[in-house]
Amino acid sequence: MKKLAIFASGAGSNAQQIMKRFRNHADIEVSLIVCNRPGAGVLNIAQTAGIPKLMIERERFMKGDAYIPELENFGIDVIILAGFLWKVPNRLVDAYRGRILNIHPALLPSHGGKGMYGMNVHESVIADQDTKSGITIHLVDELYDHGAHIFQADIPILPGETPASLATRIHELEHRYFPAVIEKFLLGADCPIDLSSIESMTP
Ligand code: GRF
Repeated sequence: MKKLAIFASGAGSNAQQIMKRFRNHADIEVSLIVCNRPGAGVLNIAQTAGIPKLMIERERFMKGDAYIPELENFGIDVIILAGFLWKVPNRLVDAYRGRILNIHPALLPSHGGKGMYGMNVHESVIADQDTKSGITIHLVDELYDHGAHIFQADIPILPGETPASLATRIHELEHRYFPAVIEKFLLGADCPIDLSSIESMTP
């Protein structure tokens, strides 16, 4: 069994989709939710699903042991960042090299880097008058939004599109693809994974 830890500090809608996909899965389970924000929506979702939660604090995460002992105690194989805003410290990148995935709500390398999160990303896409946006699922390394790409999917920017409308459509795209891409990755697919191979998977 491959064990996932999902790091999330927001509403947790992606975490919820991922938990749903791997409930009763033969080879993959979500074993832990890691969160740095008391009151985050993801905590209720984990509670309802009966998945253990680990609350982390900044000093120990950034400058201490990065909670690696707890991750190892839970037998975590792979870390999924789904709306986790702190930079992953080098010590954790090293311990889980090639085994930390992040989702970014734009087509990297555009609209990425420090400060590019949440609505800032979609505002940047609209301000640049891009003709399309999308999602990038990538490995995490020492630099923001920099590791090897595992998957991208795009959508056209519609006439009259606003950052808010784009955010909604990108969120839908994340929910549609993130769980399936994680599954393919964990089952050993060649990367980058192409869209058609994901679309042909059974949910
Ligand atoms: C997503 O848009 C993701 O791309 C970004 O944070 C957001 C998390 O949303 N990294 P949710 O908490 O999963 O609803």
